[in-house]
Amino acid sequence: MAGINNSDFVKRFKVGLAILGGFNADKKANEAAIKSLKRGRREFIFENPIEDIEKEIVSALDSYGRIAVNVRASSIDGYINVAKICSEYDVILEINAHCRQPEFLEIGAGQSLLFNQEKLLNIVESCSKYCEVSVKIRGGLNIDYSSLSKRLFSSAFILHVDAMIPGGGADYSLIKEISALGNVIGNNSVKDINTARKMVESGAKLVSLARAVIKNERIFDELLEDDILSSPIEVI
Ligand SMILES: Cc1cc2nc3c(=O)[nH]c(=O)nc-3n(C[C@H](O)[C@H](O)[C@H](O)COP(=O)(O)O)c2cc1C
Repeated sequence: MAGINNSDFVKRFKVGLAILGGFNADKKANEAAIKSLKRGRREFIFENPIEDIEKEIVSALDSYGRIAVNVRASSIDGYINVAKICSEYDVILEINAHCRQPEFLEIGAGQSLLFNQEKLLNIVESCSKYCEVSVKIRGGLNIDYSSLSKRLFSSAFILHVDAMIPGGGADYSLIKEISALGNVIGNNSVKDINTARKMVESGAKLVSLARAVIKNERIFDELLEDDILSSPIEVI
């Protein structure tokens, strides 16, 4: 969660994988974040994006075995610069192909990458030479998720799927479809053991949540009381 998920925030929770960010990796992405901030959105604004992202990674690693960093950039170099840092600390780089704020769409970042798939595939392939790559994608759009996922899995380690249904709720059939092709983090509307289990039963290796932790800071403790949700997983 941009403006919320920094190292100080994630350290408060017991999770298997903490995803930092979204962070903005280059000048144009930072400018987009400033514009978005001015109209009331929450954002992280870094004076020196790459150095400051590294500081966040180092600080989060104090508490976690596994972290990922969700990144938006206007250019492939922005992603590659963060991938180089991720490789130093064995951190997963998560390419944000999900954000739909107009400021980020204008610079060719976020969800616009789902409609410029050659660019997205090039970013993922290039970054995967340095570190493990996750791609955060959004459901509910008029695209062929199966064909895109197959292509992404040729170099991505994991897909983080916001299975959003426009109007509300999660599309578990999308999680099932993509999980049949590779490792998936299932996301959207997880708020209790029942909704988290539905993600796992649909094939997701991991389950993520955003809004629920804002409402209930004990959510991860509650989920970990469940045998299935707290059992170790193998991600290959
Ligand atoms: C305040 C806020 C900020 C968010 N920022 C980001 C972000 O920077 N990058 C990203 O990939 N998703 C971001 N998201 C989307 C969430 O990670 C998640 O995909 C979405 O809210 C659906 O999951 P949920 O039902 O658990 O909230 C944000 C969501 C919220 C509520």
